[in-house]
Amino acid sequence: LFDTHAHYDDEAFDPDRRKVLAGLPQKGVGLVVDPGCTLTSSEKAVALAAEFPHVYAAVGLHPENCHDFQPEQIEHLAQREKVVAIGEVGLDYYWEENPPRALQQEVLRRQLALAEELKLPVIFHDREAHGDSLAIVREFPAVRGVFHCFSGSVEMAEELLKLGWMLSFNGAITFKNARKAPEVIAAVPLERMMVETDAPYLTPVPFRGKRNDSRYLPQVFITLAQWKGLSPEEMAQITWENGKRLFLRYPAGVKTNQPARRSRAG
Ligand code: NI
Repeated sequence: LFDTHAHYDDEAFDPDRRKVLAGLPQKGVGLVVDPGCTLTSSEKAVALAAEFPHVYAAVGLHPENCHDFQPEQIEHLAQREKVVAIGEVGLDYYWEENPPRALQQEVLRRQLALAEELKLPVIFHDREAHGDSLAIVREFPAVRGVFHCFSGSVEMAEELLKLGWMLSFNGAITFKNARKAPEVIAAVPLERMMVETDAPYLTPVPFRGKRNDSRYLPQVFITLAQWKGLSPEEMAQITWENGKRLFLRYPAGVKTNQPARRSRAG
């Protein structure tokens, strides 16, 4: 299993981070991407990737933290070993106390430009900002990546798929209020979907309320597999290969202008 979005740098894992991470391969979780949300958490994600062979890092500023944007530092971090994406970046209009929308948009554009320059995929966070997110993504036609915890409509999913983006799903699809999810997932081709936990958040039913980690990932792809009419094993294999295709196109730390080389799972 490939958990394409888990925040093991988060303080929720301070008591047992190394124990949980070290135990994941035995639980069937062979790959993890840890996306940073601040400069400090991006640095921590890079350090965890250096320590654990099955962990990779993404670096970037989450929209909630975009007032701290220091472009040189993100650019510098993005060139460290095992950094496979810029993220998580995006727009979040949900919380009133978040930075002003204009600032969120400016920092997002600068981070998308950095992804383009470094030829890295992007991990995109969009909460209650679907229209502006889509408009800004369109300004960067060379940039690809994943809309994580996708919460938009079928129409938006179709637009993003046309633009070459992937969509990823987590425990939120198991919640009772996830009314749009089955319809959206029906519209997403198998080769364009990924799974994630967003640990320590969004623990799937029936474990809701506990701290989330990658060991709860099966709950997510069992739900996806049911909706797609596949076995959980098939869904695990497909999402593993999709994650590798997006994030592990190149040997770690190597940037190249060559077209993406498809790597086989194994
Ligand atoms: Ni996240």
